[in-house]
Amino acid sequence: MCGIVGYFGYRDAKSIIVKGLKRLEYRGYDSAGIALYDGSDIKIIKTKGKVSDLEDKIAAKKNANGSLGIGHTRWATHGVPNDINSHPHRSNSGDLVIIHNGIIENYAAIKKELVNRGYSFQSDTDTEVLVNLIEAVQKSGNYKLGEAVQIALNQVVGAYAIAIIDLKKPNEIIVARLGSPLAIGIGKDEYFIASDASPFIEYTNNAVYLEDEEMAVIRLHKEPEFRNIKNGDLFDPYVQELQLNIEEIEKGGFNHFMLKEIFEQPKAIQDTYRGRLKVNKGLVKMSGIDDNIEKLSNAQKITIVGCGTSWHAGLVAEYIFEEIARIPVEVEYASEFRYRNPIISDKDIVIAISQSGETADTLAAIKLAKKNGAFVFGVCNVVGSSISRETDAGAYTHAGPEIGVASTKAFTTQITLLTMMALRLAKAKRTLSASDYKRHLIELETIPGKIKTVLESDALTKKIAGIYKDATNFLYLGRGFNFPVALEGALKLKEISYIHAEGYPAAEMKHGPIALIDENMPIVVIATKYGHYKKIVSNIQEIKSRKGKIIGIVTKGDTQVKALADHVIEIPETLELLSPLLTTIPLQLLSYHIAVLLGKNVDQPRNLAKSVTVE
Ligand code: G6P
Repeated sequence: MCGIVGYFGYRDAKSIIVKGLKRLEYRGYDSAGIALYDGSDIKIIKTKGKVSDLEDKIAAKKNANGSLGIGHTRWATHGVPNDINSHPHRSNSGDLVIIHNGIIENYAAIKKELVNRGYSFQSDTDTEVLVNLIEAVQKSGNYKLGEAVQIALNQVVGAYAIAIIDLKKPNEIIVARLGSPLAIGIGKDEYFIASDASPFIEYTNNAVYLEDEEMAVIRLHKEPEFRNIKNGDLFDPYVQELQLNIEEIEKGGFNHFMLKEIFEQPKAIQDTYRGRLKVNKGLVKMSGIDDNIEKLSNAQKITIVGCGTSWHAGLVAEYIFEEIARIPVEVEYASEFRYRNPIISDKDIVIAISQSGETADTLAAIKLAKKNGAFVFGVCNVVGSSISRETDAGAYTHAGPEIGVASTKAFTTQITLLTMMALRLAKAKRTLSASDYKRHLIELETIPGKIKTVLESDALTKKIAGIYKDATNFLYLGRGFNFPVALEGALKLKEISYIHAEGYPAAEMKHGPIALIDENMPIVVIATKYGHYKKIVSNIQEIKSRKGKIIGIVTKGDTQVKALADHVIEIPETLELLSPLLTTIPLQLLSYHIAVLLGKNVDQPRNLAKSVTVE
């Protein structure tokens, strides 16, 4: 959470930073700020609200210029969102200015000590404590800024990605990382700093991703100096060549990123299986799995950890792995797993799922699993992310940047990848007949085309959204492979429209939620034609006799549900195991259209952030 951007070079820092902050707004958007060195002073402009509010404030101050600057977009952890708590924060002397993404857990104790030494504080933030700690260290021993930062960071507990500038030495920016991401873009006579590479992708495709406990002193016309924060050792960083392109991070004619990302799913899924799914040869090839196939096939159980939508993808995978690879699977919220004493050993496989690859709870769950000897496999979207580096092996979903806070294409590509993994395992363990195995490969390859067909129901879904947009509660029901899809559908609606929604296994409805049903309650039922179909039809009859309104997601050509439901959206026929990849799409569209009709901020829903780097 929180996005940080910095620029040091020869261009107008302000416009690069503001544009960069807009691209990072998915990380937090309750306040924003910028600090610019104008040749004689560091000017700070900050405000509660969006980056566009910051732009207005900057426009009002005509003299905000310079080619060295840092900026921040915030998701509050310490202190309410207001102008004062917004970043950047200045030290007591006025010289040091900092931006920070993360949490300093022992800030209260440090603050107390600093207050005793005469320091005063304007804001309620942990960040203002950190910048003053750095200043106190700097003054205590006449240290250079880089040295003071290193000493101070060894005294703090928590997570950070920081950038600091010093009025007295306006020829450098110091950056450091522990637990929160930080990339340095290296151009010709210019440097960029950002939480991810999107703010600088049009200027350079050379970047260094700092690892935990690493810092850098960046000076113009000089090689940056990279150091380990713990022991001060210098090191040569790995300069990565970025693959990202500018089109991928723009809306491409859609009104919102979320809609663009929903419509991108056919391509995103193709990108996930490209080069890996070889239908003609009857192969699934993924090096992270092939290289470890023995370990994976001999595992006694798989534990999947993740948060939010990634946790839902894990639930779908549980059904898939158990069905075709016949291995017991448990799915755990990473935040619960990490604080239990889970029974995990070196005979276990842990699969960590994360779009961003930065979720703090998932990262901590991985560390715990590794400590217990488990082999950890990562399923991430963001290349080079912390989770992808922390895991023993893994595979990227290659869905491309997902910017809408509500996850869409990440979910379906995670399921695609996990399905391929389960198929690969099924082949190794011979738990699927050769013909069934082949049938799954063939069918998986048809999914992108079938999603295109489902997307044609967009106008119908919009119409249904118009009818139910004012409902205060929704229920989502599904069974088997589609039970987790019901959970995901409810989550999508909650996230972006703020309408209360619950997902339930359809048969469990009679143990509670049925009491909520009346003529005002819309109920989305995933009623595709598989094994549970008759039972779902009975559940629909139970709802109808209580006057609930049914929106059915049905297989093309269905007649029974059509006769009972108030509305139906059809999906093409596919294997039951692959049906979540299709049934999810209308639920994404439904929540999208309801939120738009209600005038909500679809891409940046209140209180949420895309990348949750705090626990
Ligand atoms: C946040 C996002 C969700 C996401 C979850 C897990 O809550 O708003 O969309 O599903 O984090 O994120 P991850 O990056 O680990 O998949």
